[in-house]
Amino acid sequence: MTAPRMTSRREPRPYVTLSSAMSIDGYLDTALPPRLMLSNAADFDRVDELRAENDAILVGARTIRKDNPRLLVRSEDRRGLRASAGRSRLPWKVTVTATGDLDPCSAFFVVGDTRKLVYCPSSVQGTLHRRLGSLASVVGLGEDVTMIDLLSDLCERGVQSLMVEGGGMVHTQFLASGLADELQLVVAPFFVADEQAPRLVRNGAFPWTADHRARLVEVRPIGDVVLLRYGLSERCVEESKIASPRVRPASVFSAGIRA
Ligand SMILES: NC(=O)c1ccc[n+]([C@@H]2O[C@H](COP(=O)([O-])OP(=O)(O)OC[C@H]3O[C@@H](n4cnc5c(N)ncnc54)[C@H](OP(=O)(O)O)[C@@H]3O)[C@@H](O)[C@H]2O)c1
Repeated sequence: MTAPRMTSRREPRPYVTLSSAMSIDGYLDTALPPRLMLSNAADFDRVDELRAENDAILVGARTIRKDNPRLLVRSEDRRGLRASAGRSRLPWKVTVTATGDLDPCSAFFVVGDTRKLVYCPSSVQGTLHRRLGSLASVVGLGEDVTMIDLLSDLCERGVQSLMVEGGGMVHTQFLASGLADELQLVVAPFFVADEQAPRLVRNGAFPWTADHRARLVEVRPIGDVVLLRYGLSERCVEESKIASPRVRPASVFSAGIRA
């Protein structure tokens, strides 16, 4: 497998890109169905490209239960490019659960000819393995699943780049444990304003604060949404694409103030 943005092979974990879309007020969805469409067609195509770049895609079990996502690369061209580079045509699919409450008929398991991995506490591994059979590899990771253990296991299996598509509980853990290398965040031009709805993150202590700010590497309007890309580790070597603000001559400011 290849890792386009991996910078150091000594790091024993995959390069992690968090990807999400949210409303202006930071919500991932509404509280009740149907699923909220935050993005637009051009942005879905960008997400498709990002999926195609990565070795594996991870979502939390609640996202599977609520959204039933397929997590495929839609573009045949991108699938073909992966195959000609010696990679699987589709990225692997990865999820994590504590309860084991996963429906074997979910699109996650039945759509797309690629490897599926389910991480869970060792106590539910047997039950889940019996439920899913050959649909997925079920991996027990001790008493509690931590993201660092999950990444180590993926690394041992050859995964060098992981795209994390949410939801908020999963994003929170990668961010709070400092395991995300990059955040690609799309902001949709409307509000949800319902505290019952899921947010981009839960409560937590994050490494990025007012005194330790994340590095903004790109701002890209995509139709009516905007993509914000943040470098969260030194492994994100992306050059900043942010233009310096044009400084207006002092005389213009003074003229404005006087007016
Ligand atoms: N706008 C977007 O870009 C976007 C993307 C994805 C999802 N979403 C939305 O986000 C919402 C879901 O987000 P969410 O925060 O509620 O849930 P989530 O992060 O998708 O999934 C949480 C679930 O994952 C499992 N899990 C997470 N960490 C675990 C750990 N360390 N050990 C074991 N299991 C773990 C648990 O599953 P069990 O409950 O099975 O134990 C947990 O309940 C949905 O409304 C979805 O539509 C939006």
